[in-house]
Amino acid sequence: MITELTQNPEESRASYDRDLPVYHPEVLIFDSSEEVDQFAADLIIDQIAKKPNSVFTLPTGSTPKDVYGRLVEAYRAGAASFSDLTIFNLDEYWPLDPSNPASYASYMHANFLDHVNANLENWHIPQSDASDLAQEVEKFSGELAMSQPVNLAVLGIGPATTCHIGFNEKGSADDSRTRYVALDEETFAVNSAQFSSPETAPKGAITQGVADILEARKILLIAKGKSKAWGINRTLKGSVSADAPSSFLRLHPNTTFVLDKEAAQYLS
Ligand code: PGA
Repeated sequence: MITELTQNPEESRASYDRDLPVYHPEVLIFDSSEEVDQFAADLIIDQIAKKPNSVFTLPTGSTPKDVYGRLVEAYRAGAASFSDLTIFNLDEYWPLDPSNPASYASYMHANFLDHVNANLENWHIPQSDASDLAQEVEKFSGELAMSQPVNLAVLGIGPATTCHIGFNEKGSADDSRTRYVALDEETFAVNSAQFSSPETAPKGAITQGVADILEARKILLIAKGKSKAWGINRTLKGSVSADAPSSFLRLHPNTTFVLDKEAAQYLS
């Protein structure tokens, strides 16, 4: 089921203009997207079994939907409990009514939180209708800093050539922190389609920064389908640089990429 890939470390190092070590992420490639979902759900459940009061960074989007589905099933079967977790979302649109079905707060409720025993007091997501943006950024960022290190950060990757993690769009630095970002054009084109009237979709978001993500003890990046193939190849085989913020994951010593065959198709 699994192919392990390596890359030339000298090439990676040469391409990064700061004196930081570049690591080889573990890359696991599965035949089907269902196996990817099961692997990710099992990793999350194992982490909770080891440390019930773990701190997680969790993503939204189409990629992790079935992973949440499996977590809900595990909860119903008595195989997982989420009551002691602290959860930080990766990002949230701003400005947006949180009750909009396309908000990430709505997503978390619909796909996960309303179906398990998570303690909502320990769930942190930027408030999408906060009137004071700077204050909201400071609040979320302060709560995250207080709870670090995150034990497990689960991520997706942006579509096509975006190579974003969270909403760290092209140009995001490896030392970036939680902040407001304007969505890049490619992201907006894909994400605005989730809104009932795409022309009213938010043009920006509050996102954990790259440095916040890299502070996690372990990072799991999930990618499925051919729309992620270019980005995965760029992330793992190209330079470590801000034009592909996902490539900064190679600065982390404990990152696993879990891919289906379609997402991995350009790697070898
Ligand atoms: P997706 O989004 O899972 O819906 O493809 C991932 C992302 O934009 O980070």
